[in-house]
Amino acid sequence: MGSFKAALTLQTLAAATAAATAVSYAVPTSVGSSGYTFAAVDPEPVGISFEFFAFPSYFTNVTATMQCLANWQALSGTWPPIRIGGTTQDRATYDPTTSAYVVYTVASAADAPTTLTYGPKFLTLAGTYDGTVVVGLNRQLGNLTNTILAAKEAVAGIDTLLALELGNEPDYWGLTAAAEFAQEDDWDIRVGSALGKTNIIQAGTWLSSVSTWGAAELIATENTTARSYVRTYAHHNYPGGTVQSLMAHTSVVSNVAGYDSDVAAAIAVGKPYVFGESNSATGGGASGVSPTFGAALWTLDYSVRAVYANISRTYFHHGTVGNCQYCFWGRYDMGAPYYGATAAVAFLAGASHLTALDTGSSNYAAYATYDSAGKPLRVLLYNSDYFNGTGTRSSSTFTLSGLTATSVKAKRLTAANALSRQDQGSLPTWGGQTYTNGNCVVSGTETYETTTVSSNSATFTLQASEALVVYLQ
Ligand SMILES: *[C@@H]1O[C@H](CO)[C@@H](O)[C@H](O)[C@H]1NC(C)=O
Ligand SMILES: *[C@@H]1O[C@H](CO)[C@@H](O)[C@H](O)[C@H]1NC(C)=O
Ligand SMILES: *[C@@H]1O[C@H](CO)[C@@H](O)[C@H](O)[C@H]1NC(C)=O
Ligand SMILES: *[C@@H]1O[C@H](CO)[C@@H](O)[C@H](O)[C@H]1NC(C)=O
Ligand SMILES: *[C@@H]1O[C@H](CO)[C@@H](O)[C@H](O)[C@H]1NC(C)=O
Repeated sequence: MGSFKAALTLQTLAAATAAATAVSYAVPTSVGSSGYTFAAVDPEPVGISFEFFAFPSYFTNVTATMQCLANWQALSGTWPPIRIGGTTQDRATYDPTTSAYVVYTVASAADAPTTLTYGPKFLTLAGTYDGTVVVGLNRQLGNLTNTILAAKEAVAGIDTLLALELGNEPDYWGLTAAAEFAQEDDWDIRVGSALGKTNIIQAGTWLSSVSTWGAAELIATENTTARSYVRTYAHHNYPGGTVQSLMAHTSVVSNVAGYDSDVAAAIAVGKPYVFGESNSATGGGASGVSPTFGAALWTLDYSVRAVYANISRTYFHHGTVGNCQYCFWGRYDMGAPYYGATAAVAFLAGASHLTALDTGSSNYAAYATYDSAGKPLRVLLYNSDYFNGTGTRSSSTFTLSGLTATSVKAKRLTAANALSRQDQGSLPTWGGQTYTNGNCVVSGTETYETTTVSSNSATFTLQASEALVVYLQ
């Protein structure tokens, strides 16, 4: 009886606290305002990674792919960057004689092949894409001649080629870090010089902790020749966890901050740093986590936090078609995370700078973007309190000060709860709209909320597990 009463009191208190949560943020009136850290925003910060063997299927045999990419091009004016690579890049041999995109056999459609070949058509297919392309080539099998053949064909066939990777997650090859770095430097020089091109390699691509496998450590081993061939340094990142821990703003902040010194090392030698392959959890995703709306909220906060950390681009990985929990889309269904990524693209579109308005120490987040004239463009508000559909959904108020307009409009990212999944019939909405299963066509009426600004302030209400993009121009 006593403990029952105590539990009840705690719950009431918790509910009262949640309902009463109110946060406020001052929006700096221009880039460079003191007390804030500003990051430059890449023109194309949110990208897609396609597992190497599956890339031709995504591009020729999954209807949603082009529409999902085109939706973002329409929002930002830029086709999202893509990267083709992953585990199967190191199982792939280039066959200049095959007329097929890719040749392999698998016991089940859910499997990834253990060996495969690919032909010139694979690379010219990548060359049909108007956005930038990174292609991951094989290093693990050790056939430098074959990789150089493929690299030459990639350079010839892909006008928008940004970089080539030489090997995927070489931290899993059983080499010491010193041996891996020496081999990587050697291949950068050999492939780069065979191509006659500097700034062409996306280096790194490890998954393990940057304390051993980081750009900083690799850079320390590079001479100026090796470094001249590097265009970008990449790391892979799959934070994992439960829906609640994944989407919590404090988790996003600490996960991304773990890369700060590695990012700084790359920037110190004048090269961008990217999350070259990323998503919510390894191995194609976690079934109870990766397809949920909570993972969509993570995708949004994580994409934006990466920009804040000077990580130029994040490539969200897409694996085996039909066996991919974290995929933003598949042949038949949309994944909830597409909505979070789309909100990130909308928030960052055309921005030249970004800052975080919160301290990263609570479930509540706010970011502001700035245009090329240094004026505030948009604000992103995020309530990462977890609501799983049980009990009452709390809400919090977010007050923004420093606003100059008389009213502002906003688009909301929401769903029934953090566990909502489109493939189970519970569709998220972004500005009142949904994306159609099978083809990624937007559906419904685009809806903006309008909020009055008084005394340069406006207050917005966000339910637990919701985000809002406020348009200041
Ligand atoms: C496209 O996908 C379907 C469904 O998995 C498959 O049956 C078909 O063979 C694929 N077509 C091509 C050209 O890959
Ligand atoms: C390495 O690749 C070259 C060029 O494709 C090929 O001729 C050669 O047979 C390959 N070597 C091995 C050991 O597979
Ligand atoms: C740079 O290092 C490579 C080994 O990675 C070596 O072969 C080359 O001679 C070095 N170049 C210079 C200019 O020191
Ligand atoms: C990002 O780069 C800017 C300079 O462009 C710097 O002021 C800022 O401290 C960097 N942010 C982080 C998190 O290192
Ligand atoms: C939701 O969370 C509550 C605790 O807040 C828990 O009792 C319940 O089992 C959870 N429901 C689901 C579907 O995860």
